[in-house]
Amino acid sequence: GKRMTVPKIRSMKRGEGIAMEPLVMLTAYTTRMAQLIDRHCDMILVGDSLGNVIYGLDSTVPVTLDMMIAHGAAVVRGSWHAQVTVDMPFGSYEQSPEQAFASASRILKETGASAVKLEGGEAMAETIHFLNSRGVPVIGHVGLTPQAINVLGSYRARGRDDAEADKVMKDAKAVADAGAFCLVIEGVMEDIATDITRSVPIPTIGIGASAECDGQVLVTEDMLGLFERVPRFVKKYHDLADQISAAVEEYANEVRSNSFPREEQMYRPKT
Ligand code: KIV
Ligand code: NA
Repeated sequence: GKRMTVPKIRSMKRGEGIAMEPLVMLTAYTTRMAQLIDRHCDMILVGDSLGNVIYGLDSTVPVTLDMMIAHGAAVVRGSWHAQVTVDMPFGSYEQSPEQAFASASRILKETGASAVKLEGGEAMAETIHFLNSRGVPVIGHVGLTPQAINVLGSYRARGRDDAEADKVMKDAKAVADAGAFCLVIEGVMEDIATDITRSVPIPTIGIGASAECDGQVLVTEDMLGLFERVPRFVKKYHDLADQISAAVEEYANEVRSNSFPREEQMYRPKT
């Protein structure tokens, strides 16, 4: 089949009374994971969460453009159906629209992905317009924006008081007005995320947001149960950590007891 396009995603806003299915998005960082999730997803996000998930960093702040490009290219190679978006890492776009275009054009040229995602609302509106009008489709990301951890101080949900709720609504509208084709709402009180979804003309994708968002996203390794401690908004659909430890324990026991490898795992001359 043909790969999902940005205009097709843009059109998938769940209007009132329209029986539109929500958009399904998951993260991937590697070719193999992309191959496994692709057929089930409308969209794959190469998230800068790879800093935490695969590089052992304790925030996404140190993630580099070269890391995002290497993993973005790997994910595009492993997918054929889903639309692929690559996160712009901290420091690669905030300085100016020109800096953002230089980074984003490298992402599109060197990975084959069809869009970028960047964090921020009103402060990023000019940049989003600049990119979109020059051929770079943009997904916005408002609410809990992990790249701003040093300003925010914690990963708690946003929109808990009127001032915060107001700010995240303004950010969402600014991103939509600037020409983003989609908006990720992360870690926002449910009622505010619902209000935003009803107030912007573009599809919203929730993570720790609202069931009324036009789509949902999770970090694949989180939903597979690779980590013991995950945020409240994660539902674990599997217990990958337990399964990996059990398999590794069995392997170690078999090596130590000389029961691996066996005949069928070794090369011998034909007799
Ligand atoms: O980096 C990421 O995985 C993300 C999603 C959680 C939206 O930005
Ligand atoms: Na991200």
